[in-house]
Amino acid sequence: MIYPIIKYGAAVLESPAKPVDKFDEELAKLCEDMFESMYVAQGVGLAATQIGLSKKLSVIDVSVGKNPEAKLVLANPEIIHVEGDQREEEGCLSLPGFRGSVLRPAYVTIRAQNVHGEPYEMHGEGLLARAFCHEIDHLNGILFIQHLSMLKRDLIKRRIRKLRKTGDW
Ligand code: NI
Repeated sequence: MIYPIIKYGAAVLESPAKPVDKFDEELAKLCEDMFESMYVAQGVGLAATQIGLSKKLSVIDVSVGKNPEAKLVLANPEIIHVEGDQREEEGCLSLPGFRGSVLRPAYVTIRAQNVHGEPYEMHGEGLLARAFCHEIDHLNGILFIQHLSMLKRDLIKRRIRKLRKTGDW
C-alpha cells in the first residue's frame, strides 16, 4: 500500500516517536509499504512519522530503487559517531518544494535494528551520512528547516502559511 506523505504542520512530525518493540509480520509489511511509498514520492528516506505513525522507524535507499542492497531499515536508530562536516542542499518529502543548505557531519556511524530486530552498526558518508542524520532527526521530531537560519526558516514558514490559505498545502 502507498501511504500519503504528511506535510509540515502536523504535530506528529514535530514530536519524538516511540520505540519499535514488536518485530513481527506487521512491521515487515509496514517497512515494504514505506519503501514503496518512498519510491513513488522519489525520496531517499522516509520516516514512520511522515505517514502519521509515532514509531522510531525509517527506511533509506540512496540508490532510489536501483540497488536492492542499498535498502536499509532503521528501527530505533541512534548516532554513535560523527566526523567532519559537509554542507549541501537538503529537502524533505514533508516540505515539498523547499530546500535549504544544511551542515551535517561528513561521516556518520549509526546503531540500529533491522526488520527482524537484529542490532547492527553501519558507517555512512556523503549522502548516506546525511540521510542517517535527516532520518534520525525525524524520529526525534526535528525537521531540516530547524537547521536553517531563522531568516530562511521564517521565509519558508511564511510561504507555507500562504499556500495553506489557498488550499495548496
Ligand atoms: Ni524528511
